Amino acid sequence: MKKFAPEIPFNELPTIPPSIDLETPRILKACIEANKELAKLKIAEKLIPNQTVLINSIPLLESQASSAIENIVTTTDELFEHALDSSYLMSPATKETLQYRQALHQGYTSLKERPLSISVICNICSTIRLIETKVRKLPGTALVNDSTGDKIYTPPDGEERLRELLTNWQDYVHQESDGVDPLIKLAVQHYQFEAIHPFSDGNGRTGRIINLLYLIQRGLLDTPILYLSGYIIKNKTDYYRKLLQVTTDGAWVEWVLYFLDGIFETSKWTMSKIFSIQELMEESSSFIKSKAPSIYSKELIELLFRQPYIRIQNLVESSEVGRDTASKRLKTLCNIGFLEEVKRGRDKLFLNHRFLSLLKKK
Ligand SMILES: Nc1ncnc2c1ncn2[C@@H]1O[C@H](COP(=O)(O)OP(=O)(O)O)[C@@H](O)[C@H]1O
Ligand SMILES: [Mg+2]
Repeated sequence: MKKFAPEIPFNELPTIPPSIDLETPRILKACIEANKELAKLKIAEKLIPNQTVLINSIPLLESQASSAIENIVTTTDELFEHALDSSYLMSPATKETLQYRQALHQGYTSLKERPLSISVICNICSTIRLIETKVRKLPGTALVNDSTGDKIYTPPDGEERLRELLTNWQDYVHQESDGVDPLIKLAVQHYQFEAIHPFSDGNGRTGRIINLLYLIQRGLLDTPILYLSGYIIKNKTDYYRKLLQVTTDGAWVEWVLYFLDGIFETSKWTMSKIFSIQELMEESSSFIKSKAPSIYSKELIELLFRQPYIRIQNLVESSEVGRDTASKRLKTLCNIGFLEEVKRGRDKLFLNHRFLSLLKKK
């Protein structure tokens, strides 16, 4: 172990791969379990008929949790209310969380053209922060203990050293022929990225976007629909403690096990959420078909789940009906008890409250 002192920039941060053997029986066993669940999720995602509904909802929950880890806290309702149209008044936290979703989406799209790299992550962080972000030239902000104010970790200093460490991180992320299970590598690179802390802010959020993109890059998922930050926020104390213990004690095994458990748990969670959404969509179809057959269409159901908060204008745009017809349809859906009407100033919003409750159940 190289020397470490919490208040001194940790320029001695060792490069990766770690020098200890991570393929212990416990890790390999956890790895098999996590891979199994993740593979099931990947298949479920493919088989499900309403993929756009999933792509609209789960990454938004992920954005909410990942931002909340950094104390940027908004509600599921406010997020979905503004998910489609950001021209209405909203809280700064909602805005920042929607920005996070944008960065996740942008990173996902860019993967189709090039693999994860230093420049890709600078773009991601710039989108999250809405300000051009490069590898920092100034000392990094030390991480402090919230209750005592004591410094617990000071990231490395000096652009050149940061670039050296990032290049090593990038090589490790690109290296696929080393025979190491991608999920072990996922955990290793996440610690390393956070320990480098290359930006003046946004390192936590950028790092958690990288996690999902890495899974996609390695072919373990097709789209960013794993709710991984949901695990981290539930186990936040452990997240901070275990990150620090890699630095102070070389506790890689515990860190990797934590991460594998996260993949295992959230793969299961996401899969069960996908099935519940599917079930609710089927129930909703039958309900509307029987109570309001004249307005039922498959497209309408999809819309109500793609946009659980809907405005008359949204229906006008998506179904090419006039405003009166759209308004009547939404009113009918309220009358049969499917939607709930809420007022926002002079505006009316209609909400698919069952779907929202389902999304809120974390
Ligand atoms: N001891 C530690 N060593 C390395 N990284 C840490 C440690 N403790 C926390 N972190 C990481 O730092 C992140 C916070 O960094 P920050 O740049 O403020 O991110 P954001 O702007 O997204 O809030 C945490 O989410 C975590 O990933
Ligand atoms: Mg921050």
